[in-house]
Amino acid sequence: MKIHHIGYLVKKLPKAAAEFKKLGYVEVSGVTDDQIRKVDIQFLEKDGYVVELVSPNSPDSVVAGLIKTYKNAPYHICYLSEDMEADLKQLTENGYFQMDMPTEAPALDHKKVCFLMHPQMGMIELLEQ
Ligand code: NI
Repeated sequence: MKIHHIGYLVKKLPKAAAEFKKLGYVEVSGVTDDQIRKVDIQFLEKDGYVVELVSPNSPDSVVAGLIKTYKNAPYHICYLSEDMEADLKQLTENGYFQMDMPTEAPALDHKKVCFLMHPQMGMIELLEQ
């Protein structure tokens, strides 16, 4: 599974993006309002690394709890999955807890993503290739 992006929680997306750009990151997408997860999302890139800025835009956002704990911080690594069903099976057999069903991601061409949690790894995301 190749790495697709690093998910990075931010409290205020436009202000955070401006700071990333001062370090040389460039925008590789506009801001998407993901109404399924109630977050604003923007992808930036530097030196081949893709960073996904994620900011809650509603009190019942999926990351409303996380932002209180983490504030501004990386919180997941997303991996490309060539076979979502097989990868989910293997990961759950290896101690990962599947947090949701594969659900489309408006910020990623509506491809399906799925989040998993591991006691020693924290959160990872799978993105169908
Ligand atoms: Ni992500």
